[in-house]
Amino acid sequence: MRARLLALLACLGAAVAAHAQTPTQLVLNADQGRDTISRHIYGQFAEHLGRLIYDGVWTRRDSTQPWRMRDDVVQALKRIQVPNIRWPGGCFADTYHWRDGIGPREQRPSIVNTNWGGVTEDNGIGTHEYLALAKALGAEPYLVGNLGSGTVQEMHDWWEYVNHPGHSPMADLRRKNGQDAPFEVRFWGMGNESWGCGGNMRPEYYADELKRYASFLPGYGRVRPFRIAVGPSDADYNWTEVVMRDAGRMIDGIDMHHYTLAGSWANKGSATQFDEGQWFRSMRGAMATDEMVTRHSAIMDRYDPRKRVALIVGEWGTWHDPEPGSHPGFLYQQNTMRDAVVAAASLDIFNRHADRVRGANIAQMVNVLQAMILTQGSQMLLTPTYHVFEFYTVHHDALLLPIAVTSREWYKLGTDSVPAVSASASRDRNGVMHVTMSNLDPSHAHTVTLDVRGARVSGVSGRILTAPTMNAYNTFEHPDAVKPAPFTGAQVADGRLTVALPAHAVVVLELK
Ligand code: AHR
Repeated sequence: MRARLLALLACLGAAVAAHAQTPTQLVLNADQGRDTISRHIYGQFAEHLGRLIYDGVWTRRDSTQPWRMRDDVVQALKRIQVPNIRWPGGCFADTYHWRDGIGPREQRPSIVNTNWGGVTEDNGIGTHEYLALAKALGAEPYLVGNLGSGTVQEMHDWWEYVNHPGHSPMADLRRKNGQDAPFEVRFWGMGNESWGCGGNMRPEYYADELKRYASFLPGYGRVRPFRIAVGPSDADYNWTEVVMRDAGRMIDGIDMHHYTLAGSWANKGSATQFDEGQWFRSMRGAMATDEMVTRHSAIMDRYDPRKRVALIVGEWGTWHDPEPGSHPGFLYQQNTMRDAVVAAASLDIFNRHADRVRGANIAQMVNVLQAMILTQGSQMLLTPTYHVFEFYTVHHDALLLPIAVTSREWYKLGTDSVPAVSASASRDRNGVMHVTMSNLDPSHAHTVTLDVRGARVSGVSGRILTAPTMNAYNTFEHPDAVKPAPFTGAQVADGRLTVALPAHAVVVLELK
């Protein structure tokens, strides 16, 4: 009996030792940077959906007051240095007629937001208001034109309205509405999800339409259009193939969408009440982005070997069931440590593909899907995902430093597995190197070693985002349940960094 017990203990010991003996080993090649991580990877998405625009970024209107931009929300967004905001959709974009949203507010017509809850949209927030938000944030605007139910003329007129510097019918209309100087909008989407809500088109048909629309966006003054085509859904490689083949020479970006689900589209699962299986599926969904980006990029390489056309992940993030009690068409969901780790792993993937991925927009900015900020009346809270975006500001426009993996630990569940650790690194304009890392394993700490080659490193400091449980989140009663803290789990010795990553955690490290 005793012998059997000893044998069992020996086995267990061996298993633990094996776990401990194979840490994730990474090599950071500090002298092999080539590509810049575009800050536009950290873009936001603001659709006329639920409580994002109205009662989110802008105050709820009452009978005496018009919509007003919320200063608390704007100040918080400034801290994450939002580089661009994609607007007005989403599916809404292909139902939107921009002329409804200009001029005196009381004269603007109302429409029905058919995609999102069938609510009445009174067009109180339109082109000028949105561009005022972009200006307040120091963000570049990214307009998505209506290709699904609009016309070439209508899109061309919008382009002329925001960009023509001299006298023209649309520039004069803009002046009449109070804006003399052109807004100088560069990023221009031509439709949204034209394979789905934007018109259910075949890629061949869309590519032909795209060429018509793209032909009527002339350069005005200092502005040249950065023309963004509708890209693939997830792993639809045929869409990328056809659009690049037929219209690649007429575009500057192609907009792929990929959402991370813990269940099915019919049953996505709760944002806060989930088990490890659902956590795991979220991690797998996030990590699947790597293969998709790699394969879409490989297709693009065949038509565009110089990588002129950017792959833009124009919608990404977690999509859970709406919060109980909220309007099902408003896509209001809570945000836990799971969302934070999905965000970190996804952003690491975009960073590592900086040669081709030069833009991305998380869905969405406030009160919708994987939001940075949730509001309730005059209250506001920052989500765990917000804190990840704040950590990752260190990578904006920094030089990507390649990380090679020499050995990897896996986070396994049943017969399935994903890498336990995600990481990316960069050097900023001041020469400072940063590494972001996350632990995808919800229950076990993991040790990571990082050999820094090509630079001397003698110290490290950092911050961590974690919480006692994998489904911890911030509420209006406890808005700081999940918040950043100083991180002391990283040490440097002989140019080697050793990082003790707690379970379900994200860290940002500064190397000295
Ligand atoms: O982000 C919500 C919706 O998801 C967008 O409107 C649409 O483009 C996508 O299907």
